[in-house]
Amino acid sequence: MDYTSVTTQQPLSFEDLNRPPQPVLPAISPVVIRNATASPEDRKFLGEVVVMGFERKFAHATSQSKLPLMKTYYEKHTSGRPPLFYERYFIAEYNGERAGACCLRYQGDDALFPERDEDLPNFGCCDLFGLCLMDLATKTDIPAGKAYVDHICVLSKFRGKGIGKTLLDMTDMDATKRGCKSIFLWVSTSNPAQHLYERQGYVTKETTSPFSCCMYCMIGEKEFALMEKDL
Ligand SMILES: CC(C)(COP(=O)(O)OP(=O)(O)OC[C@H]1O[C@@H](n2cnc3c(N)ncnc32)[C@H](O)[C@@H]1OP(=O)(O)O)[C@@H](O)C(=O)NCCC(=O)NCCS
Repeated sequence: MDYTSVTTQQPLSFEDLNRPPQPVLPAISPVVIRNATASPEDRKFLGEVVVMGFERKFAHATSQSKLPLMKTYYEKHTSGRPPLFYERYFIAEYNGERAGACCLRYQGDDALFPERDEDLPNFGCCDLFGLCLMDLATKTDIPAGKAYVDHICVLSKFRGKGIGKTLLDMTDMDATKRGCKSIFLWVSTSNPAQHLYERQGYVTKETTSPFSCCMYCMIGEKEFALMEKDL
């Protein structure tokens, strides 16, 4: 015998018919945060996003024409490291596309993940000197029990979509998980990112402009704020 299956359904009530349509699936955030990997794609992206985010600083230390070499430097700097190194980097994807990144540091990381001479690009003396000055000006002591947001950057076409906020939420979680009581960062007082940090609960502990002319020569900025958040 041939059976045809029939699905029956209760008719919708008048109220049901007039109810605004409900989403079929709960809203899912388009932003996903994950740790970086040693893959060539992740390393290339880190080089691109860091150099784009801090283009002015790198161009000041070297020159505009050296920016592609700086990207190559980051790609090399993030290759062949121990697994813990990649746990320090977070990559934000927006609808599956790499959109932003940030790097968190803890006490002792400089010794764990030292700079390697072989990563340095083939720069002339002036550019190398510029980079050394930049490094000197941005070097930060990280006390025990504190996490340091080394850098955070989002590609310009993805800015203003909450990716920076989500990356900072992730750094808070990581720092808490590793037993830190606070998290801090340095930001130029001319950088609008300060508003984002304030909204995230950071407060300015001090502003510094030691020998501002010297600071300007080293990094292209005159004044920085130390911002910190209790976790
Ligand atoms: C700072 C930055 C990571 C924020 O990322 P984002 O995804 O746009 O952040 P959100 O969407 O979560 O928040 C937007 C907030 O970022 C800040 N912001 C916006 N444009 C910015 C820019 N060009 N540079 C710095 N901060 C910016 C503002 O505070 C903005 O909020 P507001 O408009 O209410 O003031 C991103 O703008 C960036 O990569 N800037 C360049 C690199 C940089 O300056 N990093 C910080 C160094 S300490």
